[in-house]
Amino acid sequence: MSLHIEAKSGEIAETILLPGDPLRAKHVAELFLEDVVCYNKVRAMYGYTGTYKGKRVSIQGTGMGMPTVGIYVEELISSYNVQNLIRVGTCGAIQEDLNIGQVILATRASGDSGANMLYFKGMDFAPTANFSLLNQAFQRAQELEIDTLQGSIFSTDTFYEDYPNRWDIWSRHGILAIEMESQILYTLAARHRRKALSILTISDNIVTGKSSSAQEREQSYTDMMKIALELA
Ligand code: HPA
Repeated sequence: MSLHIEAKSGEIAETILLPGDPLRAKHVAELFLEDVVCYNKVRAMYGYTGTYKGKRVSIQGTGMGMPTVGIYVEELISSYNVQNLIRVGTCGAIQEDLNIGQVILATRASGDSGANMLYFKGMDFAPTANFSLLNQAFQRAQELEIDTLQGSIFSTDTFYEDYPNRWDIWSRHGILAIEMESQILYTLAARHRRKALSILTISDNIVTGKSSSAQEREQSYTDMMKIALELA
């Protein structure tokens, strides 16, 4: 048991998928996994362990935003010895030519996380995905004939914006999309020498104002999940 997870020792697999939405964790566990056990209901942040194609894998809701995600990631590593942490989530594109539903393998995560400013005393740390997970995800996606984009993203602490053109400087430097979780995931994985990767689908384009229909979201979410589950 840890402070926010009530699983017993050994109940969580070495490889874990991390969606923000705990009901998404439930849905994916029921849809894709066999022999499923729910190991966590604390704060309704559901966590499940089961098997996918015979391999043991867990899926844990994390909530939105870096302070919350940081709590779950830290406890999964420190109390449950999880080795491979794969975020599965959505992002908002900041490049005009990116389409809704495209899948991004996030090579690195710039960001404005208060946590990282505290950890690194105002200096910059460059949080990156683990290369072997990234490479495996890329290969599996090709086998599944799912197109992926590989590139940088930006993790922010604020969803709602107060000033215009906030993303221009990031877009100009090649950042593909904005989300709210990966920077802390990559940082904590680096600190504890674990492997992490974020696989994201584009749910909206901040430049063009386009957003996805429920049907588009479902299809691209399924593509992303299939890639992630293959990493177990
Ligand atoms: N901003 C931050 N996070 C997001 C967005 C966004 O526009 N879309 C999906 N996740």
